[in-house]
Amino acid sequence: MIISGSVKETREQVKEWKRKGLRVGFVPTMGYLHEGHQSLMEAAKKENDRVVASIFVNPIQFGPNEDFASYPRDFEKDAALCESVGVDLVFHPKADEMYKEGFCTYVDMDGLTKELCGKSRPTHFRGVQTVVSKLFHIIPADRAYFGQKDAQQLAVIKKMARDLSMDIEIVGCPIIREADGLAKSSRNTYLNAEERQAALALSRGLAEGRKLVEAGEREAAKVKRAIEVEIEKEKLAKVDYVEVVDFADIMPLADLSAAKEGEVLCAVAVYIGKTRLIDNFIWKAGQ
Ligand code: PAF
Repeated sequence: MIISGSVKETREQVKEWKRKGLRVGFVPTMGYLHEGHQSLMEAAKKENDRVVASIFVNPIQFGPNEDFASYPRDFEKDAALCESVGVDLVFHPKADEMYKEGFCTYVDMDGLTKELCGKSRPTHFRGVQTVVSKLFHIIPADRAYFGQKDAQQLAVIKKMARDLSMDIEIVGCPIIREADGLAKSSRNTYLNAEERQAALALSRGLAEGRKLVEAGEREAAKVKRAIEVEIEKEKLAKVDYVEVVDFADIMPLADLSAAKEGEVLCAVAVYIGKTRLIDNFIWKAGQ
């Protein structure tokens, strides 16, 4: 496995694989890898001849009062996991390799980024779009893999790739959960034992919502309320948002049957103590 911190070296290696006609899969990450990331790498491995993973905690997607400095990092462990899955190249740049002095060009979007996490993290998606665009230029892969746990991010990246005619297929992969239902996240490491237990409120709330939808409820307000009521039973939980949106444009829906492409995203963000966790499910019309 090649480990490189260099844009030039990484790009040259990927181009060489492409020249040989090899298909390249790419998994962008911020490290502190868990089974969720592993599942993306495994999917990439299955569908491509070479797999590249990037490990880069991207400063520009964190707001001023967010957890950039304390975001967990463990490169040795991450590299070992990549190697065990059969990743061929890990791109692990330093911040100044990605953002040279005077950097001032950003990728932004009018739609999709204003609701859900965009409300409490107004500059987050601009940072994500910018770094992912840069990574796609450095690593000209055939396919890139993103987890559905960050469903809004997945929708934004798909839309960005389409709007900017990027020559890459965006593949969404299912949420990976702990045995008790908690969605895997690098931020779960912030939780103490009591908070870890309280964090189950998210998946429990969503399960209530899903039950209602599967029983035929199509009124978004009722689904949202059911999710909220369940989450609020947990005293350590403080809801940031519970939303039902069209997965195609991330706009709030009143009626679940009205989703343009038939996919409805029910998403939550909840503070458990100081830790903000997100989770969701996607309901497909006709399911
Ligand atoms: O999902 C993440 O870990 C990050 O937002 C990403 C896509 C690697 C961009 O920094």
